[in-house]
Amino acid sequence: MDHTIQYGTAAAGLISILVVYLALRRRRTVRSIPGPASPSWLFGNMLQLYLSPTYGNYEFDWQRIYGPFYRIKGCFGQDRLMISDPVSLQYILNSPHFKFGPTLENAIHLLYGIDSIIGVKEEDHKRIRAALNIGFTAAAVRNYIPVFEKAAHTIMAIASSQSRVQIIADAIGARLPGWLWRAAIYLPTATCKAIRTAKRLADEVGIQVLREKRAAVEQGLDINTDLYGQLLNLHRSDKTKHTLTEAELVAQTAIMMIAGQDTTANTLAFGLVELAKAPEFQDKLRTEILSTLSASGGGSVSYDNMPLLNAFIKESLRMFPAEAVTDRVAVEDVVIPLTDSLITTTGERISHIPVPKGQNMTLAIASYQRLESRWGEDAQEFKPSRWLDGPTFKGEAVGPYANLLSFLGGPRMCLGWRFAIMEMQVFVCELVGKFAFTLPEGDSTRARLATTLLPTTSNGQKGALICAKRVM
Ligand SMILES: *[C@@H]1O[C@H](CO)[C@@H](O)[C@H](O)[C@H]1NC(C)=O
Repeated sequence: MDHTIQYGTAAAGLISILVVYLALRRRRTVRSIPGPASPSWLFGNMLQLYLSPTYGNYEFDWQRIYGPFYRIKGCFGQDRLMISDPVSLQYILNSPHFKFGPTLENAIHLLYGIDSIIGVKEEDHKRIRAALNIGFTAAAVRNYIPVFEKAAHTIMAIASSQSRVQIIADAIGARLPGWLWRAAIYLPTATCKAIRTAKRLADEVGIQVLREKRAAVEQGLDINTDLYGQLLNLHRSDKTKHTLTEAELVAQTAIMMIAGQDTTANTLAFGLVELAKAPEFQDKLRTEILSTLSASGGGSVSYDNMPLLNAFIKESLRMFPAEAVTDRVAVEDVVIPLTDSLITTTGERISHIPVPKGQNMTLAIASYQRLESRWGEDAQEFKPSRWLDGPTFKGEAVGPYANLLSFLGGPRMCLGWRFAIMEMQVFVCELVGKFAFTLPEGDSTRARLATTLLPTTSNGQKGALICAKRVM
C-alpha cells in the first residue's frame, strides 16, 4: 500500500518534470528559430513591421533572408513567429488549436462587436455563418449585380492609422482583461471616438436598412436584390434555425460596412495605381471591357469570361491584400508543419515546429503572396499576365480563390469572398470603361506613394493618389 503511494508520487513527480521539460523545450525551439535582431526591448521589431515608410520594407527582406518561417520580437521582448509558409498557413487556418491573437480580438470586439460573425464564439459562429452564407452563394451574389452596377461611382480608401502610440497601446491592451479594454472605448481620445462613431453609425444603418426593407415588403416590392433583403425574407418566410433574427442582422452591419467595403475598395485603389503605371495593359483591358459590354447589349454581362479583367483582379488581390498580416495565438501545445525544413540557430534541422500554448504568431499574408518559391522570381512585380500564361504557383492550393490568402482560408475564411470579387469585377468595368487612369506628372511624392503597398502619407493616412480622365 505504502509502496503503491510512493510509486504513485514518484510517477507523478516524473510526469511533472517531463511536462516542464517539454514546455521548456518548446520555448527553446521557438527561441532558436532564426530571425532579425530586435532594435528595442519596448517595441521589438514592431515599428519595422508596421511603420516602415513603404509597407514591407523590412518584412519582405526578412523573408528573403530567413525564409517563410522566422522569429521576430514583439513589444516587451516577447517572441513572435512570422509565418508565410503555405503549408504552415494552411495548417493553422484549418486547425482548432489557434485563435485570434489578443490585440486582434480586442480590435474585433471594439469595431465589430461581440455579436458580429467574427466576434462570436464557436457554436454561434457556425450558426450565423450558415445563415449568412445563404446570402453569399454564387447564385445569391449574382442577384446583387444590378445594385453594384448602379452604385459603382465612388472608391474610398480606408484611412487606417498606425502610430508608435497605437502599437504600444495595443501591446498593453492585449495584456488587460477584456472588460477593462472594452471600457477603454469610452476614453476621450480621437481613435476611440472614431471607433465609437463608426460602430454607432453602423448600427444605425443596420436598423434603417431593415426598416426600409420591411416597408418595401409591405408595398409588395422585391427585396431579394441585396443581402439584407434576402436574409430578412428568409427569416420572415422560414423561422427555422438557419435564419437570423433582426437584432442579429443589425449586429452584422459594422462588419459588412468595414470588412465588406473598405477592404475591397482598398485593394482596388492600389490596383488602379498599377493600372495607371501600365497604360498598354490598361488600353487592352478597356478594349475587353467595352467589347464585352457592347456584346451584352444592355443585358447581363458575363464578368467571369473576361480574362484580362480577372487577371487584373487576381493580381491586385495578390499584391495588395486588404489585410497584409493577421495574428493568431496557439490555444494549446501544437506542432506546425513546414514546406521545407529549416536550420535552427543551434544547428538542428527541423521540418516541424513544436510551439507552446500561448505562442503568438503573425500570419504574413502579403509575404506569402510575394513568396518567390511559390510565385516565381518576379513575385514582387505587378504582372497580371502571370494569370494568363499557364501555371501561376508551385505547391498545394490554399484559400478559396486563386491560391490567395487575401480572404484567408479554413472554416473562418472570409464569408463574402464571392461578393468581393463580383464587386470588383463590376467596379473595374465601370471605372476603366469610363476613365483613363494616369500617374500625376512631376510629383515625386505622389509617384513614390503610388509604388508602395498601403503607403502612408505624412499625416499618417494611408491612400493612393492618381488622376482619372473621362474617356466615354
Ligand atoms: C502573447 O501575447 C500576449 C499579449 O501581448 C502576452 O501576454 C503573452 O505573454 C504572449 N505569449 C508569449 C508566449 O509570449
